[in-house]
Amino acid sequence: SIPVIVDCDPGHDDVFALWLAAGHPALDLLAVTTVGGNVPIEHTSRNARVALLVAGVTDVPVAAGAPGPMSRELSTAEWIHGENGLGGPELPDPDAGDAPVRLDPRGATELMADTIAAASEPVAIVATGPITNVAVLLRDRPDVADRIREIVWMGGSTGRGNVTPYAEFNAWVDPEALDLVLRSGIRFTMVGLNVTHRALVTPAVRERLAAVGTRTAAFGDELLEYFCRTNAEVFDLPDGPLHDPVAVAVLADPESVGVVHTRLDVELLGTETVGATSVDLDGMLAREPNAWVATTLDADRFWQQLALALGRLA
Ligand code: BDR
Ligand code: CA
Repeated sequence: SIPVIVDCDPGHDDVFALWLAAGHPALDLLAVTTVGGNVPIEHTSRNARVALLVAGVTDVPVAAGAPGPMSRELSTAEWIHGENGLGGPELPDPDAGDAPVRLDPRGATELMADTIAAASEPVAIVATGPITNVAVLLRDRPDVADRIREIVWMGGSTGRGNVTPYAEFNAWVDPEALDLVLRSGIRFTMVGLNVTHRALVTPAVRERLAAVGTRTAAFGDELLEYFCRTNAEVFDLPDGPLHDPVAVAVLADPESVGVVHTRLDVELLGTETVGATSVDLDGMLAREPNAWVATTLDADRFWQQLALALGRLA
């Protein structure tokens, strides 16, 4: 199985990304790091631990990373995820109980670097929030760069955005971090809105996941109820797109996500387009390809992987 670190900002869909990484037989979840994004870092750091606690995953270290972007102010997304970042279910206290999931005293950079250095093979990183922590890792710990197998990131879009007309939230929050990661030369895959908008939580999908019947699936169903309601209110999308686990699926089940090798750049300077991802699908720029970009999703197969993972958790 592929050793993986998940860097996230939970967030409803981030929780499903964590569960897919923790439960899927093709992956070995080694560590989790958190970033300020959907909500401030205090919330995302608690929520990542709630996700693991609910799933009965109590042996994976979780460390907090950057509270905000490298060189901008943090903008959050409470209107989708609620004030605490996981609107809907009642949240257990991850520091309480017989098997708590405590925050690792190390910061995200240190936990990532230690994990990568100690692993017997190169480690994949899946980032499902603003990609600040990964950029900071590459900036501050270049010694571990050649032990990173690849980076898969949920963010960006080959088409339109979801926070400005052309920028997706994770890209828009910290475009400088994305730019730094893209320049690293490490294999990079972007999983943008153009594919995550095919991972729609229809009533049939909700039923299918709930039918897994585990405690994790039941908690997940409460998350999905809230997430679909806010997506209906904000985007007029009652079948909420479950973005983040699609990035994990790229590693867990490559068959379910189609990718192309192309040129990917991020806008840092535009007056209206900061954070827009420029994906040269038609080769108009004649620049060297520098990234893999997801363009298709086998949704049925994707939900099957998620249900499989949920069934292997508590
Ligand atoms: C991304 O933004 C966040 O709200 C989601 O968790 C996802 O990572 C979608 O634009
Ligand atoms: Ca996210």
